[in-house]
Formats: sequence, C-alpha cells, structure tokens
Amino acid sequence: MEEAGWVPSSVDLDRPSAARMYDYYLGGSHNFAVDREAAKAVERIYPGMSGAARANRSFLRRAVRYLLAQGIDQFLDLGSGIPTVGNVHEIAQQTNPRARVVYADVEPVAVAHSSALLADNPLATVIQADLRATDTVLNSDEVRATLDFTRPIGLLMVGVLHFVPDSDDPHRAVARYREALPSGSYLALSHGSLEGVPEDGLDDTERVKAIYRRTDSPLVLRPREEIAAFFTGLEVVEPGVVPLPEWHPDSDDAYISAYVGVGRKP
Ligand SMILES: C[S@@+](CC[C@H](N)C(=O)[O-])C[C@H]1O[C@@H](n2cnc3c(N)ncnc32)[C@H](O)[C@@H]1O
Repeated sequence: MEEAGWVPSSVDLDRPSAARMYDYYLGGSHNFAVDREAAKAVERIYPGMSGAARANRSFLRRAVRYLLAQGIDQFLDLGSGIPTVGNVHEIAQQTNPRARVVYADVEPVAVAHSSALLADNPLATVIQADLRATDTVLNSDEVRATLDFTRPIGLLMVGVLHFVPDSDDPHRAVARYREALPSGSYLALSHGSLEGVPEDGLDDTERVKAIYRRTDSPLVLRPREEIAAFFTGLEVVEPGVVPLPEWHPDSDDAYISAYVGVGRKP
C-alpha cells in the first residue's frame, strides 16, 4: 500500500499521523508502515485501542442518528478522519437523501480519500482545514455553499478536540463555532479523558502520549469538567456529558476512557 496513487505529495511518510493510526485501529488500509508501527506500539501498551476506536465510531453513529431524529439535515464534521464504514453522509442520507455534509480534516490522506469518495455526491464535500482556524472554516466557499446558516446545523467534533493543546485554546475555538451556529443547532463531541484510568494505568497513558508526540497531534486528555465546558451556553441533552458507553447505548461498547455529550443551542 506504500506510495499508492492516492498518496498526496504533501504526506510525510516518515512521520506517523493520528488520522492514519486511527484508520489502522479500525482495520482500514489507508495507513503506512510508520503509522502501523506507532499504532502497534500503542496497542502493546493498551490492547483495547481498536475496541475503543470502534466504540468511538459507534458513538458518532448514535449521535448522528439522534440529530437526524431531531430534524437536523445538515452537518459540519470537524476532524472527520479517513472515511471508513458508516460515514456521516451515509448514515444521514440513508434517513434523509437530501441531508448535506461538509467534512473537514487537517490530514491530507483523510481529505484525498474523502474527496474521492464524495466525487459523485453533490450534497457532501470535504475541505482540508485546521479546525483552529475557525473563521477560515466557517467562511470557506464549501461550507457557505453547502450549509444554510439560517437553519439548524449539526456540528460534530468527535475524537478530535483531544488533539488540540491548551496553548491553542480549544475552548475559544469551540465557542466561536457555537456562536456561528443558528439557534436549534447541535454540538456532538467525544473527547479522551484520564478520569476512570486507575492509578497504575497512568504510566501507560504517559507512554501512549509519548507516541502521539511523534505525530502532529499530541494527545491532551482532559477531565470531565473541561470537556463539559465545551457545551457552555448549550442545553445538554440527556443523559448529559457522560462516559462514552453510557450515551444512548445500543451495543456492548468496549471500555473507552472518553466523555461524550450532545448539546442544543437555544
Ligand atoms: C481520531 S480521528 C476521528 C475521526 C472521526 N471524527 C471519528 O470520530 O471517527 C481524529 C481526526 O482529527 C483530525 N485532526 C486532528 N487535529 C485536527 C485539527 N486541528 N483540525 C482538523 N482536524 C484535525 C485528525 O487528522 C484525524 O483525522
């Protein structure tokens, strides 16, 4: 799979990427030796990683279905990742063929592969963007052409904010997105956390973080309180900001040390 035709020239094949490691955990094939090596090193420390990645995907699915049931028919998916089974536009357009989706990711392989997948889908598109550049994302031609900001939007930030360090103020970035959304919009997110990790697991977590420091996406695990703060000003829907497997469970999700929530803008 190395240097196949789909590899964008901007990809650094000597450096692992969080997007491609996640693709590996999910059993995908859009990853390189350097990603597999890093992902396997994580799995040696934390053998539950691929179950955790699947559990995160399962939350994404449940959240999108929940938003569809609330009448949401347009989505902005930030940190959307390399396409895999059950992408947002597939889930949404199954229920509502007119549903619209803009995907955004900073990682070139994720964008190239999404772009190929969406070539024949006039209602879904992808942009290469860093979610920290909030106004660039919000004012991009694709976002403005695809999403109608006079109607509610579902903003998805699933498994991505733990890659934004405190020094880049993720709370300010999310506040800017919340502010831009029309009333009746929703934010759904999942975020890795150290809460619930036993004392004797903390060393392992430090070793996992050291592996992610090799990527462009150092891992920042936050306490529940800081994750809940992403929903400031929103009405958090039941059951609140909770451990991932407890949010509208519909399967036996693996243990994953992450908090999730969905909030509605009044
Ligand atoms: C763990 S994957 C999650 C993918 C998908 N949202 C899901 O939950 O299945 C995290 C994704 O966030 C992307 N990412 C990390 N930092 C980002 C940033 N600052 N802006 C946009 N995307 C980012 C990575 O490239 C990766 O594709």
